[in-house]
Amino acid sequence: MAITSSMKNLLKIPFLFSFFLILLFVTFILINNSQKSPVFSTTDISQHVSTTSHDDHISNNKKNDEVGVENLDGKMRQQNDLESNNTKNDEVGVENLDEKMPQKNDLESNNTKNDEVGVENLDEKMPQKNDLESNGTKNDEVGVENLDEKMSQQDSATPFVPAGVNSTTKSNDELGVENLYWKLCKGVVAVDYIPCLDNYEAIKALKSRRHMEHRERHCPKPSPRCLIPLPDGYKVPVPWPKSRDMIWYNNVPHPKLVEYKKDQNWVVKSGDYLVFPGGGTQFKDGVTNYIESIQKTFPEIEWGKNIRVILDVGCGVASFGGYLLDKNVTTMSLAPKDEHEAQIQFALERGIPATLSVIGTQKLAFPDNAYDMIHCARCRVHWDGDGGKPLMELNRMLRPGGFFVWSATPVYRDDERDKKVWKAMVALTEAICWKMVKKTFFDSAGIGLVIYQKPVSSSCYENRRENNPPLCDQNNRSNSSWYTSLDSCLVPLPSSSTGNTYEWPAPWPQRLNNKPERLSQITDAEDVFDEDTKHWAALVSDVYLGGLGINWSSVRNVMDMNAGYGGFASAIIDRPLWVMNVIPISGPDTLSIIFDRGLIGIYHDWCESFNTYPRTYDLLHSSFLFGNLTQRCDVVEVVAEIERIVRPGGYVLVQDTMPVLNKLSSILQSLHWSVTVQQQQFLVGKKGFWRPHEKA
Ligand SMILES: *[C@@H]1O[C@H](CO)[C@@H](O)[C@H](O)[C@H]1NC(C)=O
Ligand SMILES: *[C@@H]1O[C@H](CO)[C@@H](O)[C@H](O)[C@H]1NC(C)=O
Ligand SMILES: *[C@@H]1O[C@H](CO)[C@@H](O)[C@H](O)[C@H]1NC(C)=O
Ligand SMILES: *[C@@H]1O[C@H](CO)[C@@H](O)[C@H](O)[C@H]1NC(C)=O
Ligand SMILES: *[C@@H]1O[C@H](CO)[C@@H](O)[C@H](O)[C@H]1NC(C)=O
Ligand SMILES: *[C@@H]1O[C@H](CO)[C@@H](O)[C@H](O)[C@H]1NC(C)=O
Ligand SMILES: *[C@@H]1O[C@H](CO)[C@@H](O)[C@H](O)[C@H]1NC(C)=O
Ligand SMILES: *[C@@H]1O[C@H](CO)[C@@H](O)[C@H](O)[C@H]1NC(C)=O
Ligand SMILES: *[C@@H]1O[C@H](CO)[C@@H](O)[C@H](O)[C@H]1NC(C)=O
Repeated sequence: MAITSSMKNLLKIPFLFSFFLILLFVTFILINNSQKSPVFSTTDISQHVSTTSHDDHISNNKKNDEVGVENLDGKMRQQNDLESNNTKNDEVGVENLDEKMPQKNDLESNNTKNDEVGVENLDEKMPQKNDLESNGTKNDEVGVENLDEKMSQQDSATPFVPAGVNSTTKSNDELGVENLYWKLCKGVVAVDYIPCLDNYEAIKALKSRRHMEHRERHCPKPSPRCLIPLPDGYKVPVPWPKSRDMIWYNNVPHPKLVEYKKDQNWVVKSGDYLVFPGGGTQFKDGVTNYIESIQKTFPEIEWGKNIRVILDVGCGVASFGGYLLDKNVTTMSLAPKDEHEAQIQFALERGIPATLSVIGTQKLAFPDNAYDMIHCARCRVHWDGDGGKPLMELNRMLRPGGFFVWSATPVYRDDERDKKVWKAMVALTEAICWKMVKKTFFDSAGIGLVIYQKPVSSSCYENRRENNPPLCDQNNRSNSSWYTSLDSCLVPLPSSSTGNTYEWPAPWPQRLNNKPERLSQITDAEDVFDEDTKHWAALVSDVYLGGLGINWSSVRNVMDMNAGYGGFASAIIDRPLWVMNVIPISGPDTLSIIFDRGLIGIYHDWCESFNTYPRTYDLLHSSFLFGNLTQRCDVVEVVAEIERIVRPGGYVLVQDTMPVLNKLSSILQSLHWSVTVQQQQFLVGKKGFWRPHEKA
């Protein structure tokens, strides 16, 4: 009876009222859901944090990272007041400030709450707690103060002043390193600091900038030891391959570049991401078409078989190299540090090989006869300037028979200026015996290009009417490409013991493990090469890939700090990553062999800073490098440089002797990296998000 009556009552509920109930219900669900979205998730996450933070066990790190990442979402919205009055700074200072303004471009600046989230998050983002300071409270303090630090740092109008840890650390024998005490770099460009390219003192003192001297290396002495602050809202980078299409805006906050490239449809800001428009958009089709058209117009090119290693000069946005990756072509994309565009930083954040360099007064840090092809699309280098030295530098780096693809207005436009440049180029390329193998115009794209080829034999050099530019005297020429002036002579073609010039390398991928012909110049080198190949194949498969606890899925940009014959890179070739093979200038010069194998690399002196932005590599590898290095420079400075280059969440993997590993271990721990030493010879260090709270 009661049931029937209540049923009747239910049925009597007016339609409007039930609609109201539904409405209430829906609203309730909506509110509930919105609380799960990052913006409103403060309480959720705090609870999560407080439960996990009781447990310092390493296996919790992953969870913490996840929490951290979500939290950073909130933190990104902090508004930074960058309204500093800097107009009086010198030219360099001003340029830098322009670039430093990113955080000003604040789209979603609503949140006191989110600031809190950010702070908590930073605490949590220090998964690699070291025993030195593994105390929750302490870490909290560091996190909070660190954040304050970063925020107030933005107000500073002083140009960047590098400074080191304090002097108690100078003498660091094995025990002394425990005294290491780190500070944050300060100044407005600190987050993107590149010591050898941002040395304003040295740049100010330059007598000339006509040949881009201000973009060349000027390393501060002593090397700075301060740590680079993180950009506000920095997150673990988007993993490859997704990163080719989208990256976190806050990791490379350069609103000017976005603005400047807007019309090219190359990059757009979309929420927290910078998106590189994908499938079917005009731009992507443009690049793919361009790449296909080059091969169509000149089939000898055969991307990924015949042409494997390319230098893209003035690479712009590195999309040429980016899309050639699909074709098994590996491209070294090159551009000067340009504060207005920061293209190299974008390329590396996306996981595309790139480095900072300029064709100025010095040779690029690559060997002679290395690249299969050099490409320049409106790269703004005056090839015929300075007596043609820039073009002769390309000639030096091209292997015999290699190609120069030049896509620029002088090739296809008729105005006076373009005609003049074209005329000069014709004269110069003839003088250096380059053959124009193709000149073409792509109607649909409205651009044209010319393809030149470097000779394969010296006969043309000998038969020139004038010996101008002269052939270099090999006995009287620095064969180094490290801090040496551009040649004003033509490098003779290499010749083997039989007097013939070298053959073009075997097609990729056979090329990788073929014995490079240049090896034959070195006694026993062929056996050494074989041994080396076997050694690395075994080490990588037996130890590196499985045994060291490295998450290789998160590894994209790799640097081998002393690459030898490129054995490590070769053994890991099937993984979706790329390796910058570095040949230390103080050791044997094997870089040509690396290029012969179809890999890319560069010379470097590890007693100085590398030409890359901070936070650009996921893994740095070295094999018995440090023993030699410590005879020339302070290992603390080398580790500070490693810490600058590696991304939070990234690794260093070192094989060395135990005394070296012990020393590295204590330095890395003072930087709050998590460190393990295995089998008495391998050290794996993982970088977290820790930053010191004090400024240098
Ligand atoms: C910048 O300078 C102007 C006038 O010179 C002054 O009114 C303003 O307060 C200054 N802003 C800051 C942030 O110092
Ligand atoms: C702040 O939030 C309000 C309401 O959510 C919104 O209308 C406003 O645009 C936001 N302001 C900024 C600067 O994002
Ligand atoms: C953590 O801090 C407490 C007091 O603040 C201290 O007693 C304890 O030893 C610390 N633990 C570690 C591992 O430093
Ligand atoms: C170095 O830093 C430590 C720790 O803050 C401090 O106690 C010491 O006085 C500093 N030494 C110098 C020379 O600045
Ligand atoms: C690229 O090279 C690899 C060998 O490293 C080969 O297995 C693969 O088929 C090649 N891909 C293309 C598209 O040529
Ligand atoms: C190289 O040769 C030039 C002249 O041919 C000479 O002036 C110069 O001193 C030589 N340099 C070296 C390092 O021998
Ligand atoms: C450079 O020259 C020196 C001395 O002539 C020689 O020992 C060295 O192998 C050369 N390096 C290269 C890369 O040819
Ligand atoms: C390894 O890295 C990938 C990519 O960042 C990530 O998706 C995965 O969860 C990681 N695996 C572990 C075990 O941490
Ligand atoms: C280290 O020094 C030894 C002896 O000088 C040398 O044979 C070796 O090639 C050097 N290694 C590197 C990586 O420079």
